[in-house]
Amino acid sequence: MTERGKFVLGIETSCDETSAGVVENGRVIRSNVIASQSDLHARYGGVVPEIASRAHLEKLIPVVEESLAIAGIGYRDLEGVAVTRGPGLIGALLTGLCAAKALALVLEIPLLAVNHLEAHIYANFLEHPHLEPPLIVFVVSGGHTILAYMLAHGEFELLGETLDDAAGEAFDKIARFLHLGYPGGPAIDRLSREGDPHKIHFPRALADDGTYNFSLSGLKTAVINYVRRMESSGGKINLPDLVASFQEAVVEVQVKKIVRAAREKGAGKVALAGGVAANRTLRKRLGEALKKEGVELYYPSRELCMDNGAMVAALGSRMLEEGMVASMEVEAKSILPLPGRSGA
Ligand code: KG4
Ligand code: ZN
Repeated sequence: MTERGKFVLGIETSCDETSAGVVENGRVIRSNVIASQSDLHARYGGVVPEIASRAHLEKLIPVVEESLAIAGIGYRDLEGVAVTRGPGLIGALLTGLCAAKALALVLEIPLLAVNHLEAHIYANFLEHPHLEPPLIVFVVSGGHTILAYMLAHGEFELLGETLDDAAGEAFDKIARFLHLGYPGGPAIDRLSREGDPHKIHFPRALADDGTYNFSLSGLKTAVINYVRRMESSGGKINLPDLVASFQEAVVEVQVKKIVRAAREKGAGKVALAGGVAANRTLRKRLGEALKKEGVELYYPSRELCMDNGAMVAALGSRMLEEGMVASMEVEAKSILPLPGRSGA
C-alpha cells in the first residue's frame, strides 16, 4: 500500500488575488487556483481595498472547492489549513483568516497562520526541491522591497528595505502615469523589450551609499518630470526607450546591492520572491552578475511569483511539522516583518 500524503490547504487573500492551493508533503503542488481581481481594480489604476475584500468574499469558497477538486481530495483529507495573516490589506486578510479559522474548527485540524513575505520565499522551495538556507533573499512585490539573509527556516536577518515606494508600486505608478494599464510591472516588462535601456539616464538613488536600502520616489519624479519637459517642449517621447530606461535604473541598483550582500555574507545562493521577481531584466541582469561571483540564482516560475495559495500551503506545511500551530485568537496584521533576527 502506498503511504498517504499529508495535504495542507493554503489560502491567500492579502491583496487582490483570491487563491487556494493544496500542497502534499510540504513540497509537491497538487493544485494552485488563482482568481485575480486585476480587472476590477484596473479602472482605478491600483487596488481599492473595499472592492478587494468584497471580491474575496465572493470568490473564496468556489476557489477553495476548485483547489480541492483539482487536487482530487475532499475536506476530510486535509491535515491542516494555512492562511496568510499579514502583511496586507486588513479587510482582505480578514476574509481569508475567518474562512481558515472556520475550516480548522469544523474539520478539527490545525490552523497555520502564515507570514506573506516568508510564503513568497517558499515558492522557491516548492520549485527547487534541493534548495535550503542559508541564502540571500530579495522579496520584491507591490508592497515590499526587502533584502534579507535567510540563515535557517524561520530565521531572517534584515539587511535593508525600501525607504519609500516598493518596486512593484513604482512600476504600477509609472505605468498608470503613462496609461499602460494595471498591473504596471508586466506591461513595462513587455514594452521595455523594444526599447533602449541606456537612452535616458535616470538617477540611481542610494546606489553607493553603503546600505542595503532602496529609494524609488526620486526616480519616479524624474520620469514624470522628463515626460512633462518633453511635452512642453514639443519633443517626441519614445515610450519603449522611456520604460526600458526607468526599469534599468531600478534593476541596476537592486543587482548591485544583492551582489554586495551575497559577497558580504559569503552566500552561495540568492533567491528572488514576490511579483517583481517575474521581471525579465532583473532575472537576466542578476543572473549574469551572480554568475561572475560563482553564486547561484533561484526564482520561482511566473505563476508562483504572484500571490498564490500553494506558497502559503508550503510554508504552512513546514509550520505544521514544527508544531507552530496558531490559536483561534490569532489576528490579521497589516504590518508584519519577516520572522527572526532583524536589523544588523
Ligand atoms: O507579490 P504580488 O503578486 O503582490 C504583492 O504582494 O504586492 O506582486 C504584485 C506586483 C505588482 O506591483 C506588479 O506590477 C508587479 O508585482 N509585477 C511586476 C512584474 N510582474 C508583476 N513588476 C515588474 N515586472 C514584472 N514582470
Ligand atoms: Zn505578495
